Amino acid sequence: MKPEEARDRIALLTKEINHHNRLYYVEANPQISDAAFDALLKELELLELDYPEYASDNSPTKRVGGDITKKFETVAHEYPMLSLANTYSEEEIQEWVQRITKAGLENLTFVCELKYDGVAIGLRYENSELVRAVTRGDGEKGEDITMNVRTIKTVPLTLFGDFPSKFEIRGEVYMPLHAFNQLNEERESSGEERFANPRNTAAGTLKLQDSSLVAGRGLDTYLYGVYGQDLPFSSHFDAVKAAGTWGFKTPPENLGYISCCESVEGVMDFIHYWDEQRHFLPFEIDGIVIKVNSYEHQRKLGFTAKSPRWATAFKFKAKQALTELISVDFQVGRTGAITPVANLAPVQLGGTTVKRASLHNADQIEKLDLHLGDFVFVEKGGEIIPKIVGLALNQRPEAAVKIQFLERCPLCNAALIRKEGEAQHFCPNEQHCAPQVMGKIQHFVSRKAMNIEGIGEETVVQLFEAGLIKTVADLYSLTFDALIQLDRMAEKSAENLLKGVLESKHIPFERVLFALGIRHVGETVAKRLATAFQSMDALMKAPLEDLLEVNEIGERIAHSVLEYFENSENRNTVDALRRHGLRFEMEQKALHSEALKGKSIVVSGVFDRVSREEIKELIELHGGKNVSSVSSKTDYLLAGEGMGPSKLKKAGDLGVQLLNEQEFLTLIGYGK
Ligand code: IVH
Repeated sequence: MKPEEARDRIALLTKEINHHNRLYYVEANPQISDAAFDALLKELELLELDYPEYASDNSPTKRVGGDITKKFETVAHEYPMLSLANTYSEEEIQEWVQRITKAGLENLTFVCELKYDGVAIGLRYENSELVRAVTRGDGEKGEDITMNVRTIKTVPLTLFGDFPSKFEIRGEVYMPLHAFNQLNEERESSGEERFANPRNTAAGTLKLQDSSLVAGRGLDTYLYGVYGQDLPFSSHFDAVKAAGTWGFKTPPENLGYISCCESVEGVMDFIHYWDEQRHFLPFEIDGIVIKVNSYEHQRKLGFTAKSPRWATAFKFKAKQALTELISVDFQVGRTGAITPVANLAPVQLGGTTVKRASLHNADQIEKLDLHLGDFVFVEKGGEIIPKIVGLALNQRPEAAVKIQFLERCPLCNAALIRKEGEAQHFCPNEQHCAPQVMGKIQHFVSRKAMNIEGIGEETVVQLFEAGLIKTVADLYSLTFDALIQLDRMAEKSAENLLKGVLESKHIPFERVLFALGIRHVGETVAKRLATAFQSMDALMKAPLEDLLEVNEIGERIAHSVLEYFENSENRNTVDALRRHGLRFEMEQKALHSEALKGKSIVVSGVFDRVSREEIKELIELHGGKNVSSVSSKTDYLLAGEGMGPSKLKKAGDLGVQLLNEQEFLTLIGYGK
């Protein structure tokens, strides 16, 4: 392909992909299959690798992230990012609306919106392209988190239609509840602590240094304000509606997320409606925002020192209910974590009946000094199960018994352990404690692991209880005759199950590794280990030093991997999986050249033309090996901007050759 042809094809693919991305994520109306979409993206990715000079910062391939930001730059806001006056009092809202109504503004309308509970963001666009994404910071200056925001699928990288040449759009980045809950499940199944709530998780995610981790977290946006000089609108509502046509995800009017009202009654109706309905939204809101619609009216009303006079927020009180604590169960999770769960006298809360609430861990019980028969306050948050936030001490029955945490596993009687610095108690009997065994198998068959269709979580329980599976390897010995004996197992289901098991033998090595459920080896870590060692054999033999060499693998993960493979029962399972023909080696990518054959390369810092992840991919495509730290075995140190001085010094001491970006590209055969 000639360079001009590549350039044109890149432009065309970019346009197509942006279009389908918008249909899928913003409009929830996909028009091509996922496979067709992936094929377009793959084609673009490969072309950009061969022609990095035509790869733009806003290419849709950048959505998967990969760039590392060492330190987020501070930038001044062109328009200060103000906060809103807010109140929990309905009367104060009524007074505010009435005050403005009496100010003599003609054709006054208000816009009511949801107050999204996330992180405020300002997105700057110039000539249709996203140029910068900045956090609120102190309102005057924020942090440039563009790399991370590019990975959010509902943020358009290039705009559609008739938009101003320069403007800023502001809104909220939030974590939808399903993404939050899924993330916590995944964290739990790889032995990490759960995150507390979606807002803090969204904030923490936006500050991650590795944008590819941000890409996997499922963040989303709603945009609610357009800022710029000479905007072609006279009202806030029109501006938000127009922004929807440029490709932004804006509050949908048909779902009632945004509404125009003329009177205090309309505003109060909106508040009352959402105070009830908010519990059924797929994300959290913490209130309602009311804005004066007309820009002219907004100008007349002006600002106080901190906030606009033309807008205010009503905050919802967290819904609480008081009810009796009847008993506490101790649940054993899939990873052996013991979670105390309170059984409560049923009580209405936010539209549902609550009978159970999480107590998290021993410290929580201790902090609340819980006794049986106590009257406790329960509150609903982003978690599926409500939590106990306090108690009414004056209602404690006489001679109430204090709740004691268990010392032994309620299911297998093993003595519980609590590692230093960790909040949770664990049952250490990984191999034989029923929920842990089932949990491992459920994790193994799950979508992101072996993706075995036809086996859901309940089927695993059924197969386990029937004695058909004791380890994940037993899945591969299941027979039609054995399955058909089970309750509710029709012929068709048994066939599907066996087909799913068979098909899983094609799942790539990195997912097999993730599926094993080694503690602290989540999806990303599994990918890193698989790429570094290339095969199960090499990984199983790897000593501690070699594990620690791998990028972002620390002592905790390395020891967990060693412990896993030191256990003979685990090794037996792994051997059985090998005999059943699962993939134990990385698929060899077709090499572009052998220019870096046998070379060990450390990549450090950031680069101008290609992202770090692309550089790493290029190293592999040209036969080289990525390593994380400089040693006497390192052939090259590929030095980008902002590289750590210790690496540089070590390379100097050991005589390792330094390469800059251009020298590297030349080495693998790309010109300027
Ligand atoms: S308008 C000058 N609209 O609430 C007006 N803010 O306390 C600026 N928020 O920092 C904000 N949903 O992070 C506006 N529909 C909405 C909002 C909203 C959430 C957040 C935003 C802002 C804070 C104000």
